[in-house]
Amino acid sequence: MTGAASSGPCPGSGSPDFAYCGGQLHCEQVAIADLVERFGSPLYVYSAATMRDRVQRVRRAFGEQAHICYAVKANSNLSVLRLLHEQGCGFDLVSGGELERLHAAELPTNQVVFAGVGKQSWEVEAAVSAGLLFFNVESSCELPLLSAAGAAAQRPVAVALRLNPNVEANTHAYISTGKDENKFGVAIDRAKDVVAQIVADPWLQLVGYHAHLGSQLRTVDPYVQALDRVLEFVDGASERSDGVRYYDLGGGFGISYGEGAALDVAEVADALLPRLEQRSWRPVVEPGRFLVGDAGVLVTSVLGEKSQGRSEFLLVDAAMNDLMRPALYQAEHAIVPVVQRPNAALRTVDVVGPVCETGDFLGRARSLPRCDRGDLLAVLAAGAYGASMASNYNSRRRSAEVLVDGEQVRLVRRRESFAQLFQDEIDA
Ligand SMILES: Cc1ncc(COP(=O)(O)O)c(C=O)c1O
Repeated sequence: MTGAASSGPCPGSGSPDFAYCGGQLHCEQVAIADLVERFGSPLYVYSAATMRDRVQRVRRAFGEQAHICYAVKANSNLSVLRLLHEQGCGFDLVSGGELERLHAAELPTNQVVFAGVGKQSWEVEAAVSAGLLFFNVESSCELPLLSAAGAAAQRPVAVALRLNPNVEANTHAYISTGKDENKFGVAIDRAKDVVAQIVADPWLQLVGYHAHLGSQLRTVDPYVQALDRVLEFVDGASERSDGVRYYDLGGGFGISYGEGAALDVAEVADALLPRLEQRSWRPVVEPGRFLVGDAGVLVTSVLGEKSQGRSEFLLVDAAMNDLMRPALYQAEHAIVPVVQRPNAALRTVDVVGPVCETGDFLGRARSLPRCDRGDLLAVLAAGAYGASMASNYNSRRRSAEVLVDGEQVRLVRRRESFAQLFQDEIDA
């Protein structure tokens, strides 16, 4: 039984800004059911307060001298980017398209770093003319492009070398990036030649090292091991440290997803900062998920129920095209009723969407109260890699997105129209 309609924290949410009040799930001061009434379902709902709080936590941990470069890929909505800029964040990019987003949001680009495992010429040229803080170089084949763009602009290009330290991040295989079987960065045993190439180029300046290890890390050890390996490499020859002033430890700060603790960012900072200070290296961090993951929920409406074999399915209107993480990474997101049903019996169900794929589920074997068509559920901690990974598969329109700030509500993305789905197709 679920008990009486109550007020208090929302179980499974990593943010106090999502809580029940009189049995109704709220985002800050706004009832989520009212948002669906206005904007329809499925709907992404974001809390501005949670995002601000997370930036402050990272700032408190790493100090004022750290550059916090929000990883745009986690949630690239222009309003989210603006909010994080107002909190003092720069940005971490992995594509020219993400740079276009910063231009569209009229945001400055001088606190921006640009990684990306394969950079195209136009991306390098656009980023050089935008005057970024530095590029994170991932392979030697980028260097001629960067050098040519610097020569054309008559301005040396600041680069950090992304090292692949071959460190186990203890995360899902698809989001591990710092092992030698991953495509990212330059293996330490090959980095010597890449440094020599940078140092010899009049249009390139080596300003730092980068070591993003993957996503959803929950322990400090991988960050410490990575720094150990980077320092060992750097101490091998003086040309590897001349002019270096940044250590970019990447992002990957894990959140709880309703199970276990989030990464303790203060612990990471305490372990790394003294060693960076010894060398007068400034920390750069690139959190994505940690800043926005717990700040969002995906709200979905129940379409019906059915039993099949030994399974009970709860059919909902959101699907893998809206939130790909369960299908792609076997990710678990807590799912809760938006309006509590006091005394409703609980049963175990698979929460599935309408997409024609067996992999289309939002959660399996979940304990939820019996639901009627039209009842609303919230998929928690969906603010990162939710809307930004959404697609039009099955010709479904991407969801609307709403940003709540106290009692203020702003629609920050309209639901797509069907006309938008085929506007670029040529009917020959
Ligand atoms: C280079 C780089 N930096 C930062 C991030 C952000 O990771 P997270 O959202 O886990 O903090 C990613 C994610 O893939 C990345 O590739």
